[in-house]
Amino acid sequence: MKIGIIGAGNIGGNLTRRLTALGHDVSVANSRGPHTLTALAEETGATPVPVGEAARGAEIVVVTIPLKAIPDLPSGVLDGAADDVAVIDTGNYYPQQRDGRIAGIEDEGLTESRWTERHLGHPVIKAFNGTYAQDILDRPRPAGDPDRMALPVAGDDEAAKAKVRALIDELGFDTVDAGGIDDSWRQQPDTPVYGLRAGVDDVAKALAQASPERPADFRG
Ligand SMILES: NC(=O)c1ccc[n+]([C@@H]2O[C@H](COP(=O)([O-])OP(=O)(O)OC[C@H]3O[C@@H](n4cnc5c(N)ncnc54)[C@H](OP(=O)(O)O)[C@@H]3O)[C@@H](O)[C@H]2O)c1
Repeated sequence: MKIGIIGAGNIGGNLTRRLTALGHDVSVANSRGPHTLTALAEETGATPVPVGEAARGAEIVVVTIPLKAIPDLPSGVLDGAADDVAVIDTGNYYPQQRDGRIAGIEDEGLTESRWTERHLGHPVIKAFNGTYAQDILDRPRPAGDPDRMALPVAGDDEAAKAKVRALIDELGFDTVDAGGIDDSWRQQPDTPVYGLRAGVDDVAKALAQASPERPADFRG
């Protein structure tokens, strides 16, 4: 499958490694340009591209950059993607450590992914946001393995969500349907499921236990 990855850091880099290993055709971009991605390209066989070209022809695009950088993406960044492209958002809002205060999230009460998709102008599927980047490399397990981890996946577009869940299964993880993007506060930072290494039943329980109130440490 043709996959575009916007962001080549902890998460984007490791997704590039695993997805190329599975045989996918991966284009990857960062903010500084393709010439800075030579080592990752040599290691993985991925194609480094300018950010405006990452989505070209892609059936899945992963947006995995700091939340504060989302508004800096060029307009039309998803232009040229497949008509039914699924856009994965891995983002988290860290107002105090990294992102600064974002009014749309704090004053309007948007979930982090709803805020992101408004900037992108395209629906997103929220996945991997509570997954340690290293676990993408270290913890894949075959289907049925009792130690297989499950990841929550939220999104409004059921077809796109199914496509993303199938890809995550291929990567070696189970998934739990975490509802729509308005429900995705259940998997934001500091919720019970955030960073949880557990299987389907415990992930579903953790999602159900979440509180909608934004914790003080995650307010700007
Ligand atoms: N680290 C984790 O374990 C983890 C786990 C789950 C979710 N997340 C979330 O996933 C997102 C990415 O996290 P990360 O840890 O992978 O970040 P990171 O290591 O800091 O990497 C960020 C990447 O985004 C790129 N970038 C920044 N601004 C950009 C722009 N305007 N256009 C294109 N690329 C841009 C950076 O490129 P340059 O280097 O060229 O600037 C870099 O490749 C964050 O929202 C984070 O909270 C992280």
